[in-house]
Amino acid sequence: MTKLQNLPRPLMALAPMDGVTDRAFRQIVRKLNPGVLLYSEFTNVNGIVHSSKVRERLLFEGAELPYVVQIFGRDPLLFAQIAREVQDLGITGIDINLGCPSKRVVSGGNGAALIKEPDLAFAIVEATAKATALPVTVKTRLGWADASTLVGFAKGLESAGASLITVHGRTAKMAYRGEADWEPIYELKKELKIPVLGNGDLRSLEQGMEQLKDLDGFMIGRAAVGNPWVFWPQEQRDKLTLKDKVDVMLEHFTLLRRYQSEHKTLVEFRKHLGGYLSGFRDAKALRRELMETQTEQDFTLAALRLAS
Ligand SMILES: Cc1cc2nc3c(=O)[nH]c(=O)nc-3n(C[C@H](O)[C@H](O)[C@H](O)COP(=O)(O)O)c2cc1C
Repeated sequence: MTKLQNLPRPLMALAPMDGVTDRAFRQIVRKLNPGVLLYSEFTNVNGIVHSSKVRERLLFEGAELPYVVQIFGRDPLLFAQIAREVQDLGITGIDINLGCPSKRVVSGGNGAALIKEPDLAFAIVEATAKATALPVTVKTRLGWADASTLVGFAKGLESAGASLITVHGRTAKMAYRGEADWEPIYELKKELKIPVLGNGDLRSLEQGMEQLKDLDGFMIGRAAVGNPWVFWPQEQRDKLTLKDKVDVMLEHFTLLRRYQSEHKTLVEFRKHLGGYLSGFRDAKALRRELMETQTEQDFTLAALRLAS
């Protein structure tokens, strides 16, 4: 099993994305990028304890390793219970979400809301780290409204037992508006002993390497949607043909279908279509055609026709 500390540096990670980084997409990203660290979609600790359907979100194929499961909630005891339960699954680590700004999450005091309750955030990390031998990592933002709390917060997380921290260079209040600011992340790196990953607005491997500076790695999210080649050098990406992309797209679609119904697969796959087809002539029309298919068979036939 690959250990977090043995992964090649700089660390490159696929960001956790709810509704995107499911088992099917992670397998596709893994196949094209052997060294990239994969994160699950975030999953609520109460859900994991009470619902077998929710628990399914944590499942993975062995080939996905190195793979980190991300969880969110606000009860340290539940985090500890889950840490004990998942540690024998063979996963690489457990990540605690302290950065999600969505209303649904924050209104319950979860995700980024915990930036405003640092002692509870530290208690969660401590309880999780004490319950398992697995590395416990954290993903957070610059702060709630500004970056003034970042160093103190991150130092507290480190003392509580966090093994790595990823910082998205926006505040919770910014949600996804404005631009990510990496300067506070570089400053933070000087203050911590644990690895620090930067995240926010990266579109390519080259951009990641440029923004890296003294950080230990970077994480890419949105630019990976429908674009599992995002970690490849530009020169290699430029050589991809529409057929190369459609072949991988179909493999992705087939994998997703393996885990869920035909209808759900067709609907969920729509978010990846733009990415897979972008840059090609008539991309919009191609996308529209695939969006409108009603059956798995129609989708496959239409895709094959595009690639021929
Ligand atoms: C659709 C979507 C779902 C997301 N879900 C999660 C999540 O489950 N956990 C998390 O920590 N961040 C989540 N994020 C935030 C990303 O991990 C990442 O921090 C953010 O998109 C900024 O990186 P990017 O500019 O490379 O996309 C999500 C973002 C998007 C767009």
